[in-house]
Amino acid sequence: MALLEIENLSIAVRADTGLLPVVEGCSFSVEQNQTMGIVGESGCGKSLTAMAIMGLLEGTQVKVTSGSIMFDGKDLLQLSARQRRSLMGNDMSMIFQEPMTSLNPVYRVGDQIVESLRQHRTLSLSQAKSRATELLDLVKIPDPEQRMVSFPHQLSGGQRQRVMIAMALSCEPQLLIADEPTTALDVTVQREVLELMLDLQRSTGTSIILISHDLGVIAETCDVVAVMYRGRIIESAPTSELFASIQHPYTLGLLNSIPSIDSEVEWLKAIPGRVPTLQEQLHGCAFHPRCAFAKEECSHSLPPTTSVGEHHQVMCHFANELDLEPGQLDS
Ligand SMILES: Nc1ncnc2c1ncn2[C@@H]1O[C@H](COP(=O)(O)OP(=O)(O)OP(=O)(O)O)[C@@H](O)[C@H]1O
Ligand SMILES: [Mg+2]
Repeated sequence: MALLEIENLSIAVRADTGLLPVVEGCSFSVEQNQTMGIVGESGCGKSLTAMAIMGLLEGTQVKVTSGSIMFDGKDLLQLSARQRRSLMGNDMSMIFQEPMTSLNPVYRVGDQIVESLRQHRTLSLSQAKSRATELLDLVKIPDPEQRMVSFPHQLSGGQRQRVMIAMALSCEPQLLIADEPTTALDVTVQREVLELMLDLQRSTGTSIILISHDLGVIAETCDVVAVMYRGRIIESAPTSELFASIQHPYTLGLLNSIPSIDSEVEWLKAIPGRVPTLQEQLHGCAFHPRCAFAKEECSHSLPPTTSVGEHHQVMCHFANELDLEPGQLDS
């Protein structure tokens, strides 16, 4: 049994005109010790999916409208708010998009880790302090004793993100969700922080969901990939299988827009057009207005999800019919 199994998850936002769907019919699973990547452009529903898993939508304008989220054999959507809270931080934890907003600027870094540890574990103050120092050392923060008494603004962006990782890992969660954990960092630090996450995973066996808009980052770090577009998973596969045989024109577009280190041009080619807004009524495949391969039926009927290989699924009318190669569509 997978650690996390999501079936047919739909999420909607309350608006004056009623409920607007933001995530529709998403299914995926994450095995023990596996790293899964969720990739897609801004606004496609990645963070809301993560927040639904973490139980963070309670009391917001956003709600889960259908589906199930099974974690370690329990249906999370059926648990009471209290049961959800006790899972959070203990069995699953999350690193957010912007570390500065997640760390409290008025408390010392060490005190924040100690507080998080003591919320979830029965530790004396001195035990928690020494564990917090160990954690800072583990995430390779130089001079951890000194850093314990620093305030967040005295740390660099990379160090703050390491502190967030230390806090997220402090209770040895079974599942860690990292939502764009490195977007605010420069490329070298980004790589260091990602490598650190993977190192820690190897030693703890934690399962990770890594969210990014950069397919390059996902390709380097994840075992399996789900590509989201406008609230739906339009392609999913083990990473090597995906790159050996890309099936969805949107995935190809994402691949072609990975910045290449060797290339003179920083961005090869962005996908033309934009993601439709929530208010826009869609007919057919949500990607068809931007798709170079779209045909008549793409504009009026929703494509089925088709299996095109072992654990490889695609939501396209032309599954297995398009011969997509990296670099194609570049001009
Ligand atoms: N609290 C909210 N109330 C209303 N709409 C929301 C709320 N949170 C998100 N949305 C909308 O839901 C859609 C999906 O948002 P989400 O944050 O999941 O996107 P994302 O894929 O994480 O994007 P990004 O890459 O920019 O982080 C967006 O159109 C967003 O504007
Ligand atoms: Mg997001």
